[in-house]
Amino acid sequence: MKQVKRVAVTGGAGQIAYSLLFRIANGDLLGDDQPIALSILDLPKAVDELNGVVMELQDCGFPLLKEISVSGDPNEAFEGADFILQVGAKPRGPGMERKDLLADNGKIFVEQGKAINSVASKSVQVLVVGNPCNTNCLICMHHAPDIPKKQFTAMTRLDQNRAIFQLAAQAKVDITEVGRVCIWGNHSATQVPDFVNAMIAGQPLDKVLSARGWLENDFIQHVQQRGSAVIKARGKSSAASAANAAIGHVVSLQQQTPKGHFFSSAVLSDGNPYGISDGLIFSFPCISHGEGNWEIVPHLEWDSFLEEKIRATEKELLEERDLVKHLLS
Ligand code: NAD
Ligand code: LMR
Repeated sequence: MKQVKRVAVTGGAGQIAYSLLFRIANGDLLGDDQPIALSILDLPKAVDELNGVVMELQDCGFPLLKEISVSGDPNEAFEGADFILQVGAKPRGPGMERKDLLADNGKIFVEQGKAINSVASKSVQVLVVGNPCNTNCLICMHHAPDIPKKQFTAMTRLDQNRAIFQLAAQAKVDITEVGRVCIWGNHSATQVPDFVNAMIAGQPLDKVLSARGWLENDFIQHVQQRGSAVIKARGKSSAASAANAAIGHVVSLQQQTPKGHFFSSAVLSDGNPYGISDGLIFSFPCISHGEGNWEIVPHLEWDSFLEEKIRATEKELLEERDLVKHLLS
């Protein structure tokens, strides 16, 4: 029997967590031979709801779930954590952009960053989901100076999954035929879903799908605006698909990436091979050597269309960083 891994999830009483916690407890995050201790954090006022979630987790009888604890205090919830999935933050409503959440959500990541620094395992891996996730991740990392920066990532996997579905549907191929699709930049309306480097059925996408007009317009806008479309349709932001993406993100980082594949993850841009400004949490194509040891995939080509869009998403992230400079000092 492997040693128990401690997984902390924030926003435990919220809608993403209601999907995520059960999948983690089922072994989808760390494998079906990995025992887990779940530590669930929410605001103190949500502790009654959290207790209800705990009852349901107990009632599933998950064989891998060895311990469950709930807390309203990050210093308690993150104690000894090997993985922290930071979901707890306000979601946006109709008509808002994700960066409109910065004023409310940014400060959560100051407090939680400090708690991670004090009490989490020094090899903890942190995934930020709460929006705007790139800049929240930057804030969190800044307040946890004793934890290696490589251990902080933010989630653009949902955007990647959305892009893959759209490309498969347009090319009329099975979804498993679409590969090497990455998201560049910010998890926002400026994000750049890259069709230029994508492959379909082992061939460059443009050999299979001659639809440049659709790709430059409908496809990109569809992926950029999918979060808003879900909010408009459901009245609430995406939840099960976000939980699924969080699982996919951690699994991709934990496992060695098969040759020729990559995945999207927002990571610290320092020293990146694409000339993006340092000091941002920017989504790049990444591979993993296993156990969270990621690397940015170099040498993907940008045409002038892609380059202009990538510069726009970089500019937006620089502006977001400026907006929170008081939280980064
Ligand atoms: P929700 O409102 O259903 O749940 C959020 C939970 O977080 C609530 O229970 C709330 O009490 C809790 N919370 C708030 N502040 C907290 C704090 N300081 N500490 C601990 N818990 C706290 O929201 P949701 O739908 O689960 O979404 C959560 C976040 O994830 C939102 O910011 C949303 O925009 C974001 N999101 C990101 C992606 C992505 O792709 N990166 C996808 C979907 C949603
Ligand atoms: C999403 O992409 O679905 C989430 O970031 C929620 C949102 O605000 O769009």
